[in-house]
Amino acid sequence: MKTSSNLKFIVHIFISFVPLVILKASDIRLDLTHVDSGKGFTKLELVQRMTFRTNARTAALLTKSMKPTNPITVPVHPGNGDEPYDREYLVRFSIGTPPQPLILTLDTGSDLIWTQCLPCIQCFDQGLPFYNPANSSTFAYLSCLSNLCTALPMAACHQQCFYLYEYGDGSATVGSVSTETFTFGSKVTVPGISFGCGFLNGGIFVSNESGILGLGRGPVSLISQLGLGAFSYCFTSLFGSKSSPLLLGSPTNFYNNTVKSTTPLIQNQNPTSTSFYYLSLKGITVGKSLLRIPHSAFALQDDGTGGVIIDSGSAITGLNDDAYKLVRKAFIHQVKLPIANESMTYLDLCFTLPESLSGDVDVPKFVFHFENVDLELPRENYIYENRSAGELCLVMSSSGDTSTIIGNFQQQNIHILYDLENEKMSFMPAQCDKL
Ligand SMILES: *[C@@H]1O[C@H](CO)[C@@H](O)[C@H](O)[C@H]1NC(C)=O
Ligand SMILES: *[C@@H]1O[C@H](CO)[C@@H](O)[C@H](O)[C@H]1NC(C)=O
Ligand SMILES: *[C@@H]1O[C@H](CO)[C@@H](O)[C@H](O)[C@H]1NC(C)=O
Ligand SMILES: *[C@@H]1O[C@H](CO)[C@@H](O)[C@H](O)[C@H]1NC(C)=O
Ligand SMILES: *[C@@H]1O[C@H](CO)[C@@H](O)[C@H](O)[C@H]1NC(C)=O
Repeated sequence: MKTSSNLKFIVHIFISFVPLVILKASDIRLDLTHVDSGKGFTKLELVQRMTFRTNARTAALLTKSMKPTNPITVPVHPGNGDEPYDREYLVRFSIGTPPQPLILTLDTGSDLIWTQCLPCIQCFDQGLPFYNPANSSTFAYLSCLSNLCTALPMAACHQQCFYLYEYGDGSATVGSVSTETFTFGSKVTVPGISFGCGFLNGGIFVSNESGILGLGRGPVSLISQLGLGAFSYCFTSLFGSKSSPLLLGSPTNFYNNTVKSTTPLIQNQNPTSTSFYYLSLKGITVGKSLLRIPHSAFALQDDGTGGVIIDSGSAITGLNDDAYKLVRKAFIHQVKLPIANESMTYLDLCFTLPESLSGDVDVPKFVFHFENVDLELPRENYIYENRSAGELCLVMSSSGDTSTIIGNFQQQNIHILYDLENEKMSFMPAQCDKL
């Protein structure tokens, strides 16, 4: 970057990146509500809805990471009410002075924080009143010269910094990059956070959300802007109605630095996929057998494809297609039950339970062998069993591709710590509603 004055450049860096508050460990605790929580769905309906959403999300993430940056059109028609959502958890906090409430969907697979913003050119319906910058004394537009403006994949300068941000499922938002005071819970107030004031928004938004909270790896995400060395979440049972905690900061008070088993976080150098959190997965064990999956099946390729993404916005894990075929075969071989040809769950692999059945059905264990960490999943994190319908299903799928996306069904009741300072991730089994 060549500017006439280096000093000017330095001043801008200073203004953009100076942390305004020093956050202490776990200063910010937010409640996550699952999008389907409290709506009276049965377990079966919840599984069906997760299966649908997973198919949509997997397709979306994969197209996103492969899509060339061509001119974009903002979809005009929001999804009809029956379409699957592609993000799973809602989070509430406020912005502005006085504070105006927001409901955003959590997304570790993208970076921008944005909410619908008055005056709208095109906004979708939301449960809350639209955020109105005119009513906030702390709202400001961000300068075009700001680093966060230039860090956005598509920004344009017309006196202010305008952005266009799109998601793999075709959803998109256009607006002004602005700054506001954010209020988390009743205690923590952080001034000067940049966000998208979206006045032209469209796509799949059917959970009454007002926008999306990006927790990805890029510079505009909430995590990067707060300068957090770590964050964590712990998803309670997807069949329950309790909320799950999202902790911004290091949860050292829970573990007193005793977290030992950690696996490296990997960054994708390909510019299309820099938001995602990648893990190094070496293999999978089903029951007694370590499956003969070639290491290359889980490898991140130089062109940015493949790899293993951990995602808070995918419902059910989608394994690399070759790996999934081997997992499926291993289950069929080891579960001594007939395969059900059709299942109301729409899951790929279900078994028919015998009519008279006492006690638990033996199912093979499932272990992800991450680098340095073997994560054995609790049974309820990969098996759906319905005695009255006489079926038992594997809650996992193929991504239909070379990528693997670890979804939140597999993450239930595991406290997952993103230790960004050390580029590591830890998995701590936990009863998430008790944290
Ligand atoms: C079991 O399946 C039946 C449909 O066959 C459904 O009505 C019921 O809600 C399911 N039960 C559970 C616990 O998923
Ligand atoms: C959205 O919010 C409105 C008003 O608060 C409520 O009546 C409606 O049920 C909500 N819809 C969903 C899908 O949560
Ligand atoms: C917010 O601003 C709008 C007009 O911009 C006004 O009608 C409304 O009363 C204001 N609300 C508050 C709480 O100030
Ligand atoms: C961590 O330390 C605190 C205070 O010393 C103690 O109360 C707590 O039980 C410890 N937690 C663990 C997980 O060891
Ligand atoms: C499943 O389909 C196969 C072939 O179509 C059939 O032979 C088998 O009996 C069916 N199984 C059940 C449980 O219906």
